[in-house]
Amino acid sequence: MPRQLIVGNWKMNGLLADALARCAELRDTAGSHTADMVICPPATLLHPLKNEGFKLGAQDCHAAENGAHTGDIAVSMLKDAGCDYVILGHSERRQNHGESSVSVAAKAKTAHAAGLITIICVGETDAERSAGTQDAVVAAQIAASVPDCATAENTVLAYEPVWAIGTGKVASVDDVMAMHAFIRGFLREKLSHVGEAAILYGGSVKADNAAEILKIKDVGGVLVGGASLKPAEFAAIAKAAV
Ligand code: PGA
Repeated sequence: MPRQLIVGNWKMNGLLADALARCAELRDTAGSHTADMVICPPATLLHPLKNEGFKLGAQDCHAAENGAHTGDIAVSMLKDAGCDYVILGHSERRQNHGESSVSVAAKAKTAHAAGLITIICVGETDAERSAGTQDAVVAAQIAASVPDCATAENTVLAYEPVWAIGTGKVASVDDVMAMHAFIRGFLREKLSHVGEAAILYGGSVKADNAAEILKIKDVGGVLVGGASLKPAEFAAIAKAAV
């Protein structure tokens, strides 16, 4: 069994001085657990954090290898800056930037060709869960977002119910268990090339709920937003990993 992956998504937070201080404190508090941690800072901080002792991930990339794409970042640039991972299809990009699953798959293909591991995010909205359509929504997102070149080595899925992101409303153990079992079954049956890919949970993961979430079958780690900005809390989450 691979060790659980603890990913910190800093989103649009962090300046150089406080990022270096945060990494130093995180190294001190996390100890040997840094080996399982990935930090995804804003793009401006990727290169400066290259030798801070953590694996690095970007929060997005472009599907093209280079060219006239103002404001975008190519996968070769992410590799150059020291990244091993890239988050794709985060709900904030799906909602605020009209990111489609088709675009996520195209980005993932380019990222895999460059040797990056993709963390592909999926998850239903509050309305979709209220309507009982969460399984169908997540299955459709996965089917369209995961490219044919994906493998269990170059792809990690992250189940992040939109209603749990940044809201403090964490999904119940039963809901996480049911969805992760559903995703595992769906992958094995329909997308066997990623049948055994790790499936992270994300959405209001904190130090005080990480242990129970990380114990759930088929939870391969966590994707942490707000709590990853607090070194002591993020280290405590990593220490709950098995
Ligand atoms: P949160 O964010 O932990 O602040 O809810 C999770 C995410 O967006 O990846």
